[in-house]
Amino acid sequence: MSDEPEAPTFDESSDGERALSIPPELPILPLRDTVLFPNSFMPLAVARESSVRLIDDAIGGGKLIAVFTQRDATVEEPVEADLFRVGTATHIHKMFKLPDGSLRLIVQGLARLEMGQIVETKPYLRARVVPASEDVGEADKLEIDALQRNIKTNFQQVVSLSPLLSDDLQTLALNISDAGKLADFIASSLSTISTAAKQEVLETLDVRARMDLLNRILIKELEVLELGSKIQSQVQSEVGKNQRDYFLREQLKAIQKELGEGDDQTKEIEELRAKIEAAGMPEAVKKEALRELDRLSKMPVAAAEYTVSRTYVDWLVALPWSKRTDEVIDLKRTKDILDADHSDLAKAKDRIIEYLAVRKLNPDVKGPILCFVGPPGVGKTSLAKSIATALDRKFVRISLGGMRDEAEIRGHRRTYIGALPGQIIQGLRRAESKNPVFILDEIDKLGSDFRGDPASALLEVLDPEQNNTFRDHYLDVPFDLSEVLFLTTANVLDPVPPALRDRMEVLELPGYTEEEKLKIAREHLLAKQVQNHGLTAESITFDDAAVRAVIRGYTREAGVRNLEREIAALCRKSARRRAEGNEDPIAITPDVVVEMLGAPRFLDEEMGERTKNPGVAIGLAWTPSGGEVLFIEARRMNGGGSLTLTGHLGDVMKESARAGLSWFRANASRYGVDPEFYRSSEIHLHVPSGAIPKDGPSAGVTMVVALCSELSKRPVRGDIAMTGEITLSGRVLPVGGIKEKVLAARRVGIREVILPARNEKNINEDLSEDLRREMTVHYVTTIDEVLALALPPNAEAPAVAAAPVETQPASVA
Ligand SMILES: Nc1ncnc2c1ncn2[C@@H]1O[C@H](COP(=O)(O)OP(=O)(O)OP(=O)(O)O)[C@@H](O)[C@H]1O
Ligand SMILES: [Mg+2]
Repeated sequence: MSDEPEAPTFDESSDGERALSIPPELPILPLRDTVLFPNSFMPLAVARESSVRLIDDAIGGGKLIAVFTQRDATVEEPVEADLFRVGTATHIHKMFKLPDGSLRLIVQGLARLEMGQIVETKPYLRARVVPASEDVGEADKLEIDALQRNIKTNFQQVVSLSPLLSDDLQTLALNISDAGKLADFIASSLSTISTAAKQEVLETLDVRARMDLLNRILIKELEVLELGSKIQSQVQSEVGKNQRDYFLREQLKAIQKELGEGDDQTKEIEELRAKIEAAGMPEAVKKEALRELDRLSKMPVAAAEYTVSRTYVDWLVALPWSKRTDEVIDLKRTKDILDADHSDLAKAKDRIIEYLAVRKLNPDVKGPILCFVGPPGVGKTSLAKSIATALDRKFVRISLGGMRDEAEIRGHRRTYIGALPGQIIQGLRRAESKNPVFILDEIDKLGSDFRGDPASALLEVLDPEQNNTFRDHYLDVPFDLSEVLFLTTANVLDPVPPALRDRMEVLELPGYTEEEKLKIAREHLLAKQVQNHGLTAESITFDDAAVRAVIRGYTREAGVRNLEREIAALCRKSARRRAEGNEDPIAITPDVVVEMLGAPRFLDEEMGERTKNPGVAIGLAWTPSGGEVLFIEARRMNGGGSLTLTGHLGDVMKESARAGLSWFRANASRYGVDPEFYRSSEIHLHVPSGAIPKDGPSAGVTMVVALCSELSKRPVRGDIAMTGEITLSGRVLPVGGIKEKVLAARRVGIREVILPARNEKNINEDLSEDLRREMTVHYVTTIDEVLALALPPNAEAPAVAAAPVETQPASVA
């Protein structure tokens, strides 16, 4: 029947309540979903049969009816209980009949009514009604005014924010002066508030209370509208940006098309597809690559992920999935190449040839990884390079030095910004072959921290059981590393994690003698540097004495790197002379060396000088950069029996100093020293070069010799060096690094060394025949033997009587 809450109009001038006398009984028209307020006009649509009948009868009569809103809009035939108790006396202004029999009305609300008893239910409801008069109450006029103003302002804001309300409503509202009517007008104008709320306004007869209620409704409405407009503007700006991007991109496409540039993206995708087909990927990888390509083709070029995805596909196609170099293992040729590139190193070369022989006979056997261990500059890296040349394989090298992050080996996941594959995969891409010789340099300098342990990632790389499906985090597809020939290098083995060490076969390169260095310089370094500096063999000549002078006076190293550097310096200075117009051939002699390189940095005489006074002995130490010669100094001062140790010594070294002192106290009388010396003495043992940390037991014998020398006032021989661990009972135990130590002694010009007897086999196995011939080695088993050799009893000896009794004639190698 009724409905359509189209905006009602309002007529303040018609004051129905007073102008009209309301009959005591009226027909009741139920309203659905709307409330008619007094003084307002409203169009209604009437379709229910009973309602049409009601209107027909009313038009014939006084055109006066009562409207009451249904509690539940869905009820078809409402009875009394379905209607609210307060409604409106209504005048039917106009009625139109539509062809389907339904009616359109224009009605005007006149006054509030309260429903009384129902008198008829058929054909439509009729009831007794009583006017419900407004109650102006005792409300303060000022308060009403203030509320009224407040309501008007709020209403203005609601109208200006709401797209559903016409701006005219503001003006209309401003012109209403009666508070109750203003409330009715606004309540009937607000199309967004619920019917229940409107009904509540209608039922509130107290004007003051009605205004309060309305004000609350308005404030709530205002909040909703403000929130709504905020959401609206956010949504608008987002939609705006997306649309803008979209339009720009479309325009760009159109412009490219106009310019005849065609669709670059499609072209690019097709190129990539061809590359994927050509890359020889395993099936699973190819599938992954094509999937990514598909994703790529659907992405706008300008999208951030486009580059990420594109880079990934680039990586996939760039890897040598099935590219390899043919390996020819020709042992003769390999030997020739190794010999041509490196002098000496016979033992290492033999081991390499054996290693390759095994590979040749059984290509499937996964041999251990070779690890070259030795001091800097002895040719570890360059030997590994030669192996690559000899095998005709590509060569890549990565340095593990300082690597602390697992991701450096294995890459970052693609979700990281700027993610890349790890060094292994990067190396293979550089190699452009899946079977290169891959050098992992400085495996001993591998670090680890909270970012993960690169060593464990490396373990997987080096494990023949699992490296055929090595999974880089970035690639996220397996890559077969099983054909790669990994070689590793290290200065020392100790820091290498045991699990890694286990996978490797160690090949030691201990360092060179002066003769070997001279030979290396002659055969390799000189020619290389002469050529590097744009000189020729005719324009510059080196004589052997000059090279020796460089080795002795300007370098002190196990390898030849500094030697090469000094030779380069000589070539550079010669090149300059030639460039400045001096065309004469230059002959490098020892004098020219001093002239060009300045005064020698290392002097041999030092040795004898330092041991002239009692209390200084020459020891031999092993360091990661080769052997070292150490001076150990002892001093006795008056004091109360304490021992001071200085020179950055480790705990083991300190303990061996104490053991040495104890042994000497127990045996002092045999060396002409008062056994009670300790009571009135303070002993200080010092190992110079304090900046280098020193540890290990091998300085034991040297410390005892220095002590004995100081206390017995006999100087130590300056041409003999020693090493060995001691026990409290005076025995000498074997130590490590023998070859390096002997080389170090030889380097500073010492030809005689004292070694523990049980180290004899190291000398025989590791030292070249030349070196053995050159050096005099004394093997000892007790400290007494050491003292007999190092402290000649007749040299200024105050107490000859105390010659050691147990000393046997030293065995001489
Ligand atoms: N036996 C040798 N014959 C010829 N050249 C050599 C020999 N040993 C070393 N060299 C040369 O010495 C230089 C240094 O060698 P290389 O770089 O291989 O040292 P390394 O052992 O790898 O040192 P580091 O531990 O510092 O990496 C190279 O130019 C190398 O060719
Ligand atoms: Mg190296």
